[in-house]
Amino acid sequence: MAKIGDILLEVKNISKSYGSVVALTDVNMNVRAGEVVGLVGDNGAVKSTLVKVLSGAYQPTSGSIFLDGIERHWASPHEAIDAGIETLYQDSGLAPHLSVSANVFLGREKTVPGLLGRMGFLSQKYMDMTAHADLDRVGIAVPPSSRSVSRLSGGQRQAVAIGRAVSWASKVIILDEPTNHLGARQAGEVLAVIKAVKARGLGVIFISHTLPHVLQVTDRIVVLRLGKAVCNAPTSEFDADRLLGTITGLIETT
Ligand SMILES: Nc1ncnc2c1ncn2[C@@H]1O[C@H](COP(=O)(O)OP(=O)(O)OP(=O)(O)O)[C@@H](O)[C@H]1O
Ligand SMILES: [Mg+2]
Repeated sequence: MAKIGDILLEVKNISKSYGSVVALTDVNMNVRAGEVVGLVGDNGAVKSTLVKVLSGAYQPTSGSIFLDGIERHWASPHEAIDAGIETLYQDSGLAPHLSVSANVFLGREKTVPGLLGRMGFLSQKYMDMTAHADLDRVGIAVPPSSRSVSRLSGGQRQAVAIGRAVSWASKVIILDEPTNHLGARQAGEVLAVIKAVKARGLGVIFISHTLPHVLQVTDRIVVLRLGKAVCNAPTSEFDADRLLGTITGLIETT
């Protein structure tokens, strides 16, 4: 078990091309246990591409990923999930035709013990109860776990997706614009959840265009510009103007 301050996830010289277009160039960053790292940059700065590389959805063109000091290659998102990394994608990836609890358990459905379990039947009651408790912990009220996700509001869907990631992560949680579609109160609750996840000793990568949120909840900020990490510094070194200037390039970084 990592101690607070140990490096959990480390990225060395990661690059990613889309065909002949180089999207991500030589990015280095790490996330420590009990640390929230903000990842910021304008639209197209390549934040979500980096998220997909970290979560196994895309393969990097070059560079290495280390978890607990051991180099890993994720052949699929499942391998990253099994290793303890949960990701909330920007396009949150819920299955709208399934219920809330089925979404929380998607890909890891619980079977009841005994003959039925071995035959692969799902314990619906267990999933509904656990999903509800997990979402309750996130602090955002969502309707009953048995309801179809297609009948939820955008913000409620977002809450389900966050709850799913928070309840399964054991090492690192990556949240790509988790407060999108949320009202002010609900966004505040998501920030509180991030602080709670940090207090549990997990590492968090938090992506947002809402700079006051980033300044409020992160310990360190990595600024991406045109696919490069142009700045990586403790949050205490930024105020709103400096952060905005670094993102837009008005403030030069070395
Ligand atoms: N699957 C893909 N194939 C080709 N190009 C892609 C693909 N995904 C993203 N890109 C390109 O990579 C660049 C970075 O996109 P990305 O989604 O990583 O940016 P972002 O920083 O997350 O932006 P936003 O703040 O708008 O979410 C964009 O120019 C985009 O068009
Ligand atoms: Mg994005």
